[in-house]
Amino acid sequence: MTVFEHYAQVYDLIYAVKDYKAEAFFISHRLRFYREDAQSLLEVGCGSGRHSRYFEEQNWQVLGIDQSADMLKAALKNTNGNLSFIHADMRTLNLRQNPIGSNVFNESATSLHPQAKFDAIAAPFHVFSYQVSNVAILEFLKSATLHMRPNGLLYIDFWLAEAVLAQKPEKRVLEVENKDLKVRRHATPIHEPAHNRVRVCYDFEIFDKNSQSVRRFSEEHPMRYFSVPEIELILKLNGFALLEVAEFMSQKTPSENTWNVYAVARLQS
Ligand SMILES: C[S@@+](CC[C@H](N)C(=O)[O-])C[C@H]1O[C@@H](n2cnc3c(N)ncnc32)[C@H](O)[C@@H]1O
Repeated sequence: MTVFEHYAQVYDLIYAVKDYKAEAFFISHRLRFYREDAQSLLEVGCGSGRHSRYFEEQNWQVLGIDQSADMLKAALKNTNGNLSFIHADMRTLNLRQNPIGSNVFNESATSLHPQAKFDAIAAPFHVFSYQVSNVAILEFLKSATLHMRPNGLLYIDFWLAEAVLAQKPEKRVLEVENKDLKVRRHATPIHEPAHNRVRVCYDFEIFDKNSQSVRRFSEEHPMRYFSVPEIELILKLNGFALLEVAEFMSQKTPSENTWNVYAVARLQS
C-alpha cells in the first residue's frame, strides 16, 4: 500500500489540534529573516494543505506539491480550490519541462509560477525524513536547486539522530474522534540503526459511528534520522550553505531532547 493513501482520509482528524497557523508563521518568519522580499514558495509534501493556506495569508505565492493524490484531494477541500497543487514527487519534479500536465490539481498553478523557480522551498513536518535512501536525498536536493532562484532559501525539518538514539522509538497508541468517526492508531516502530532509519508501522482502526462498522488498514512509514553535522555536509555537498539549525518552534539548541529539528539553508551561487 502507498504511504498516505488511506491515511489521508483521517490525517486531518489525527492532527486536528496541531497548530498549523503558528507553524506556518514560524517557517515564514525564519525564511523572511534571511530574505525580506521573498514571495514565491514551493511547498514540498504539502499534504492536506493546512500550512499552505496560512502561507498564502502571509503573502506567499504558494505552489504545493505532494506525491500523494489522496492528500492533495484533502488539500483542495481545505483551501476551497483557491490554491495551486501539483501531484508530483519532488525527486522527479521538473516544472520547467512539464509546466502543465494532467497532474495539476488547479490550472492556475503554473500561471502563477511561469518561471518555475522560487524564492524559497519549504518541506514542513518531517518531509525530509521521508527521503530515506541516499539516492532519494540527493534527488530531492538536486530538484530543489533546479527550482530555486539564485540565493534561494530552503527550509527542511527532520528527525534528529541524537534524540532518536537517546529516547528510542516506542510503541504508541493514539485515539481521536469527531462526530462521525472514532480512530485508533497503533504505531509500532522498528528501529534500524545501521540505516539511520525507523520503520513506523501504523495500524488503523476506524469506527464509523453512523454505520456502526469498523475498517482496518495498515501503512508502513520508513523515516530517516540525521545528525546536525550530517545535514550540514549533505547540504554543503549539494550547493547549500546552512544558515541555522534548531528545535522546531522553540529554536532551542539541538540535543537529545529535540526530536524535531529544522534547518534553513541558502543556495550558493
Ligand atoms: C507527515 S506528512 C506532512 C504533510 C504536511 N506538510 C503537513 O504538515 O501536514 C509528509 C508528506 O510528505 C509527502 N512526501 C514525502 N516525500 C515526498 C516527495 N519526495 N515528494 C513529494 N511529497 C512527498 C507525503 O506524501 C506526505 O503528504
